[in-house]
Amino acid sequence: MSKILTVTFNPAIDKSTTIESLAPEKKLRCSAPNFEPGGGGINVARAIKKLGGDAKAIFPAGGHTGIFLTELLVKEGVPVQSIKVQSFTRENLIVLDTSNNQQYRFGMPGSVILEEEWKQCLDLIEKEEDAEFVVASGSLPPGVPTDIYAQIAATCKKKGAKLIVDTSGEALLQAANEGVFLLKPNLAELSSLVGKKEINAELVDDVAREIINKGLCEIIIASLGPLGAVLITKDKEIHATPPVVKKRSTVGAGDSMVAGIVLSLSKGWDVGQALRYGVACGTAATMNHGTELCRLKDADRLYKLIRVAR
Ligand SMILES: Nc1ncnc2c1ncn2[C@@H]1O[C@H](COP(=O)(O)OP(=O)(O)OP(=O)(O)O)[C@@H](O)[C@H]1O
Ligand SMILES: [Mg+2]
Repeated sequence: MSKILTVTFNPAIDKSTTIESLAPEKKLRCSAPNFEPGGGGINVARAIKKLGGDAKAIFPAGGHTGIFLTELLVKEGVPVQSIKVQSFTRENLIVLDTSNNQQYRFGMPGSVILEEEWKQCLDLIEKEEDAEFVVASGSLPPGVPTDIYAQIAATCKKKGAKLIVDTSGEALLQAANEGVFLLKPNLAELSSLVGKKEINAELVDDVAREIINKGLCEIIIASLGPLGAVLITKDKEIHATPPVVKKRSTVGAGDSMVAGIVLSLSKGWDVGQALRYGVACGTAATMNHGTELCRLKDADRLYKLIRVAR
């Protein structure tokens, strides 16, 4: 298996708890909190671990929350390389109201990362020997320029590493304009890549092909939620549709999908198999409550049930 790196500029600790009923003014008694590492690339590395692989997570970490984040990852067996930064790593709060089963997700603003700090993250990627795949995933915190993923794309080209980008907005556009190995947009991100507000499901293939023809990436996997995903390359077009499962929470579906795709590719599987396993992992994540990522057993079972059309 070849080496996989993930990079996350906006990591977080996700603190989850439950209450009997959310109401203003009253003192609310919360259950004992559960702490989990969060952030795009960090979740991809965690999901890869759960799937039996290994990916090293690179991220900035600051203050006691930064130390705690690193400890949580080490406890899960995820290889880490953190950059010590001045600002505290943020902590998000997720509260489940058990009276109506509704979840409230309070996301804190990302912690500011200084130029010398994000540059250290770039240096780590540049210096990492024999990394075959680099996954750059998630939003950017204040201080990090929107062309950071484009800079990583340029570094990866120099190193001969394959870059997978999963993000949105300006950062996604700039990375695509530099040119990457694989893009994994959802419908909204796919629309923004071609400068449209919205595109309907029938146009996904055409738009994805347009992106390939422009040379923005070698492989595009557009994910379509419960409808699965479509893969387009210069000479391939493959649709993968998952079976209907009991959906509990879609949080982490995209990250689990990226984990399934990159892990498959790193094992030398072909793109069709990687698409199928990615969809299996994404759908497996939706079977779990809250922020839990995919489980290996579910992913392997679903893999056999994915319908593929070429
Ligand atoms: N409701 C669902 N039922 C079955 N599978 C789902 C569902 N939602 C998502 N998935 C699976 O997860 C994959 C990724 O989901 P989606 O297209 O919603 O990505 P995303 O918007 O990037 O997700 P995220 O919000 O986690 O970033 C899908 O291709 C599919 O395999
Ligand atoms: Mg996503």
